Amino acid sequence: MTLLQVKDLEVRFAAAGSGLLGLNKQWVRAVNGVTLNIAAGETLGLVGESGSGKSTLGRAILHLNPISAGQVLVDGIDMTHGGPIDIARLRHETAMIFQDPYAALNPRLTIGETLFEVLRVQRKVAPELIPRRVGGVA
Ligand SMILES: Nc1ncnc2c1ncn2[C@@H]1O[C@H](COP(=O)(O)OP(=O)(O)O)[C@@H](O)[C@H]1O
Ligand SMILES: [Mg+2]
Repeated sequence: MTLLQVKDLEVRFAAAGSGLLGLNKQWVRAVNGVTLNIAAGETLGLVGESGSGKSTLGRAILHLNPISAGQVLVDGIDMTHGGPIDIARLRHETAMIFQDPYAALNPRLTIGETLFEVLRVQRKVAPELIPRRVGGVA
């Protein structure tokens, strides 16, 4: 089952200082035609030099950056022009761990405890079922 589909994704930013009065606007092509699929249970590592667009791609997938062209489908649902309900669902089911992990994760908790805590606070999973869910069983 494909959880995430990214098709020909492009993100462009107007270059600083360009396009005075909208003329001769210069664009930074941060993400230029990226296509990838991630299945349930699969992990994808993206490697590239600094400034090659890795963070912008992640942010665009999560709707934290505008998409210039292409498509993002989550669970088969097109999020590219997602309405507020789709975006709310996306926010609920995805998470970004930003570059400074100490700002995003509690270093005193294990990854298992961190996942447990999220499910406990969200109350979407019955308490007795949380350990199985954290273990990736259910
Ligand atoms: N909000 C923004 N406005 C303008 N340019 C940006 C913005 N965010 C990123 N960029 C540019 O997009 C390119 C890709 O950056 P980024 O995605 O942060 O790369 P990486 O995460 O691979 O280091 C860089 O040239 C960066 O300067
Ligand atoms: Mg980055």
